[in-house]
Amino acid sequence: MKISLTYKPVSTIDADLLIVILDETKTFHVSDDKAVRGVIDRARQLYADKRIKREYIYTLDQDAKIPTLLVYSTALNRNYPLPEVLKIFVARALRFAKDYQYTRVAVLMNGADAQPLLDAVVEGALLGAYTFDKYRKEKNTFFHDLHLEIVDNDARKATGKAALQRARTVSEAVNECRTLVNMPGSDVYPQVMADVAEGIAKKNGLKCAVLHEKELAKQGYNGLVGVGRGSIHPPRLIKLRYKPVKASRYTLALVGKGITFDTGGISIKPAEKMYEMKGDMAGGGAVLYAMQAIAQLKLPINVVGIVPTAENFPDANAQRPGDIFVAKNGKSVMVDNTDAEGRLILTDGLFLAGEEKATHIIDIATLTGACVRALGTGAAGAMGSSPALINAVIRAGAAHGEVFWELPLIEEYRDLLRTPYADLNNIGGSYAGAITAALFLREFVPPDTPWVHLDIAGPFMRDKDWKYYEAGATGFGLKTMVALCEHFAEYLGE
Ligand code: BES
Ligand code: ZN
Ligand code: ZN
Repeated sequence: MKISLTYKPVSTIDADLLIVILDETKTFHVSDDKAVRGVIDRARQLYADKRIKREYIYTLDQDAKIPTLLVYSTALNRNYPLPEVLKIFVARALRFAKDYQYTRVAVLMNGADAQPLLDAVVEGALLGAYTFDKYRKEKNTFFHDLHLEIVDNDARKATGKAALQRARTVSEAVNECRTLVNMPGSDVYPQVMADVAEGIAKKNGLKCAVLHEKELAKQGYNGLVGVGRGSIHPPRLIKLRYKPVKASRYTLALVGKGITFDTGGISIKPAEKMYEMKGDMAGGGAVLYAMQAIAQLKLPINVVGIVPTAENFPDANAQRPGDIFVAKNGKSVMVDNTDAEGRLILTDGLFLAGEEKATHIIDIATLTGACVRALGTGAAGAMGSSPALINAVIRAGAAHGEVFWELPLIEEYRDLLRTPYADLNNIGGSYAGAITAALFLREFVPPDTPWVHLDIAGPFMRDKDWKYYEAGATGFGLKTMVALCEHFAEYLGE
């Protein structure tokens, strides 16, 4: 998709379709064109009278400069904050454009209150136009040829371009992440994750290191080795390093769960919806492509991306319930349930974050069904040791339409992880599974390092279209991690 900014008055715009968004209190546009103004005024009145349920479509003479207008009002959708609603409208408008084969689309954003929302328009367009057609005979090429002109106000020429570029970089990273998560387990296994990481590193000047199974065993990364034992695809431990031009006192470690397929292992999962576990590397995928965006945007802090990746399969050689291993930090773990594998590989990821001298750690994982039960599919859980870091994540997410909700690390539940056989059991019983999983992870966080765990099991994938996302992977968490790195000190309140 071609996206450009223009500063022309409405009367001189040449497009197949003009998108206008109304709001009761904010002004997103001005128009010097009388006919266009008339249409918008009429739409405004109809919205005020609650006569419109979906959108207002107005067709002018087919040889008019702009033959069709599509007018939305934020009154149509009260479910989300304003920028999200804008993204939803832009995505919907582009689908409308596709239905009618309109390839030249303009969106009117030249009003006083439109400037902070330029990036929302770009994101709505790019995330909304995404479709997973890699495995289809018919490819969706329409949006490739579409030209979206954002009509901006020339009083703010300097900032608009940067906003467009930023939103494009992040949105493209999200879409690439969505493809990796949507792809089947037969095509995305640990070495493929490593190849993706190496590709990102090469293109964007990052340092990349990958540990293979022999080295992992030798160095005692036993969580990862144990989980990977049942698969023909051996595990990998991926590390990407980004350094800003100007030295920073912060080193943020992003640790992503990279289970490329989770059958449950010997504690095997039921068949229904098991296919969704092809996306059990969504946390790892978000970390890899967040690193890409962070490098392309030249963000101001040190960031280490760490992705332990394995396939969780049952096999004669697979780990069994009751097996005990010693994790990198010396604590022994009994594998009570082989399906609670994410936390086992994360013991290694968290340990490596300490080796890398992280000053702050965020882990992101499709970790528990319990989190989905607690918060549903619209929000991710956030739990951790540092209220400042938790709030920073929540605020960064809120600014980009990703909802994180804090769950409490209730201290007495730590006792649920006790076992007569080892230092820790890998599951904590039937209740509060999202919390006991986080309490398990806490045991492996390097001492005195602010840490937050993000459980994205709810929103990482949707079985129906959601907001501007088509059904399937969302890339959830990537936008938040990038925004956090961008304004790290401010979000932390430092
Ligand atoms: N990957 C799953 C969690 C999951 C479930 C993610 C649904 C996305 C959607 C994880 O490895 C798992 O199987 N967790 C178990 C833990 C249990 C055995 C304590 C679960 O949530 O059932
Ligand atoms: Zn599992
Ligand atoms: Zn899993």
